[in-house]
Amino acid sequence: MPHSAWDLRPDVIYLNHGSFGPSPRVVIEERCRWYRELEAEPMDFYTRRLEAALAEARGALAKFVGTSGDNLIFVDNATWAMNVVAESCDLQPGDEVLLNDHEYGAVHRIWERRCRERGAKLVVAKIPTPLQTVDDVIEPIFAAVTPRTRLIVFSHVTSPTAIIFPTAEICRRARELGVMTCVDGPHALVMTDVQLDQFDCDYYCASNHKWLCAPFGSGFLYVHPRRQSGVQPVVTSWGRSYPPDLAPAWHNEFTWGGTRDYSAYLATPKAIEFIESVGISTFREHAHRLARQAREQITRLTGREPLVPDDLAWYGSMISLPLPRGDALELHKAIWDRYRIEVPIIDWGGQRLVRPSAHLYTCSADIDRLVAALQTLL
Ligand SMILES: Cc1ncc(COP(=O)(O)O)c(C=O)c1O
Repeated sequence: MPHSAWDLRPDVIYLNHGSFGPSPRVVIEERCRWYRELEAEPMDFYTRRLEAALAEARGALAKFVGTSGDNLIFVDNATWAMNVVAESCDLQPGDEVLLNDHEYGAVHRIWERRCRERGAKLVVAKIPTPLQTVDDVIEPIFAAVTPRTRLIVFSHVTSPTAIIFPTAEICRRARELGVMTCVDGPHALVMTDVQLDQFDCDYYCASNHKWLCAPFGSGFLYVHPRRQSGVQPVVTSWGRSYPPDLAPAWHNEFTWGGTRDYSAYLATPKAIEFIESVGISTFREHAHRLARQAREQITRLTGREPLVPDDLAWYGSMISLPLPRGDALELHKAIWDRYRIEVPIIDWGGQRLVRPSAHLYTCSADIDRLVAALQTLL
């Protein structure tokens, strides 16, 4: 596998692509190329070239995720996208927003704040693990839906537990009930299939700087055409770059976010080109094999049952495995201090979890080193 395509530090075993996914060199170079173009002639770049270049990059990304360029905008990351959704969601007092206990901490905070501001109620469904069937996810979510539920917010791939949620099915059921869906999808891109038009969700928030390996600071927000007219930017500027008129398309409000560095967005097509040149299925097979290796070896070490069945439908290139109870922070520090291994150790729902990620630069010996470190430290 092309480890040499990355500039990773040789003294570190990097098993945390899920949090922060480094870009291969070709993508870094492409970002620098755009940045140098800006510096060479800023006026020309911002006023004559940027809009067309952004539209082209948006089109390439939209094709990759199965929708039209008119349905998505670049944002810095999934956090930014989720804030736009929260800002745009016209919640009324007494409305309910439904999350679940596998959601990302910052997403909880965004909706706690928005619900507080609007006098709405945040409801958190509990989805106990281990899971056996898709109904183990679907039932607790829909059991928590009431006539006041306006929106269900859920991850396509969860952060603490690394579980692939049955996204199409949750969206379909919610549609039947007339409830909006906002999918938090930063881990799903490349790890699993993202075909936005088929999901029929209302909103999809993503970070391109995770599994797609786009530059840091590149994400997107997809908005279904039925919701586009209500979407508000969280930062108001001119709308379009030049001339700064507001043509009647929702995404025009988001083109110009003030004077800033747009190179991470513009280099995103290069990341798509990179992963497609390797092959998505090559990536998935390689990374899943390593996640599966971690699953087998860590389960053997701890004797603790994994959170999901051993199936590609449930986990992809990242896996979260229960460890014996204990101090997560202390273990995380020891793995780094003594072994120079980057891997999240997470306290979640009374469990201590280890969450290794695998990308093209990861090899079987990296997983062996993690398991050996855990064996000594536990
Ligand atoms: C499920 C989930 N949502 C949102 C985020 C936030 O992503 P970002 O920091 O790229 O905005 C993360 C980050 O790991 C995540 O795992």
